[in-house]
Amino acid sequence: MVNRTEKFIDFMRRFRCQGEQFFVRSISEKDIETLRRWKNNHRKSFFYQGIISPKQQKAWYSKFVLDDNQQMFVCETVERLIACVGFKNAHKGKIELYNLICGDPRYLRKGLMSHLYQAIEKIIKEEKFNEIYLYVLKNNVAAQEWYKRQGFKCQPRRGGNSYLMKRFIEKEPL
Ligand SMILES: CC(C)(COP(=O)(O)OP(=O)(O)OC[C@H]1O[C@@H](n2cnc3c(N)ncnc32)[C@H](O)[C@@H]1OP(=O)(O)O)[C@@H](O)C(=O)NCCC(=O)NCCS
Repeated sequence: MVNRTEKFIDFMRRFRCQGEQFFVRSISEKDIETLRRWKNNHRKSFFYQGIISPKQQKAWYSKFVLDDNQQMFVCETVERLIACVGFKNAHKGKIELYNLICGDPRYLRKGLMSHLYQAIEKIIKEEKFNEIYLYVLKNNVAAQEWYKRQGFKCQPRRGGNSYLMKRFIEKEPL
């Protein structure tokens, strides 16, 4: 049993999307097998494309709980986990988004992921972050389109197999 550190961001929320209730919370050990399956199913969308074993996933989680600068949330219904998204490298008002996955195909292209993102972005903004960035594979056009829809912009970056995308979170007028 590993002791949890206090994460740089932590919250629980509920929201409705298309008449259904969803919950957002930080991940716990009971989620990691589902997250592993999702990551493996979508491995071609990510930088690391090897199959992650249960042992590797447990090793990752042991480090994750001790890393206060890394956080991951799941979105779920009363019945099952639907999606996840992580944040890391919080530094000087900026944070990196990673491991965004809609794991349940029944919820794809339903606007749920946009809804989830907007709910989380609101909290990130309240926590005084002003920039969210991420790296996306050049061949992952679906994710690029999705990020653009959330207001992310591709940054010029020479070479490599990825784009850097950034979203500046506007401040509310006083
Ligand atoms: C990226 C992802 C989370 C988007 O989920 P989603 O259910 O499509 O999200 P939403 O319903 O909120 O948004 C849908 C919009 O995203 C864009 N989009 C999603 N899939 C797309 C695709 N295959 N081609 C083009 N645009 C796409 C479109 O703008 C779409 O709007 P439309 O349905 O009106 O055309 C999902 O595709 C996913 O889990 N992908 C696998 C993992 C991944 O690539 N993660 C990002 C790694 S950096």
